[in-house]
Amino acid sequence: TEEQDLLGKKILITAGPTAEAIDPVRFITNHSSGKMGYALAEAASKRGADVTLIAGPTKLAPPIGVNLISIRSTLDMYAAVMKHFPEQDIVIKSAAVADYRPENIADKKIKKEEGNLTLTLARNPDILAELGKIKENKVLVGFAAETNNVIEYAKEKIIKKNLDFIVANDITEEGAGFATDTNIVYLIDKKGDVRKVDKATKLEIAHNILNKTKEFLK
Ligand code: C5P
Repeated sequence: TEEQDLLGKKILITAGPTAEAIDPVRFITNHSSGKMGYALAEAASKRGADVTLIAGPTKLAPPIGVNLISIRSTLDMYAAVMKHFPEQDIVIKSAAVADYRPENIADKKIKKEEGNLTLTLARNPDILAELGKIKENKVLVGFAAETNNVIEYAKEKIIKKNLDFIVANDITEEGAGFATDTNIVYLIDKKGDVRKVDKATKLEIAHNILNKTKEFLK
């Protein structure tokens, strides 16, 4: 049994990809498996936290004791996050949110015709940046998946989105990134502290992330 060091704390975690509908049978998504966010939910729940997990489509079973809210699109995730944000102590946004969605969702299956089809994409809201604008007395944690300049981009995001810290990983490294059971991350905080967590299981990384949130809890 784990130490109940997060007993009574309310934690909101987002996980997985989003799915942006094109028509009733097609959608745009990404390679996120949801494993990192589900590991965070499991670790936080075992440490006594009251966990709300807002997740896009994944193949994973929700951890025991966690309040799972399943969504598909970024707009759905945005609405669910905003609804549950006010009562939280900690918010960790590990979801791989789509930056764009089809501007119009066709209500009938799009039939193929001669030539090309052009799809216009509309910008989705940046949920995390919106939270950063309204946060008061909450620990706000973001994720950053990069292929280059990992630390530099992470530091820019901390400022731009008003985060306490960011979990950054180089998805080109062996044993890091989307569908793997392990990850290699940097925990980079708003004070400029940079700490590398060497290759470990996503559950172990989750515990490191939760330990770091405690530095920022009031
Ligand atoms: O800017 P970038 O997408 O790299 O930032 C990643 C972080 O921002 C993640 O924590 C992700 O969940 C969050 N995000 C979001 N809404 C978006 C895009 C990203 O909350 N539309």
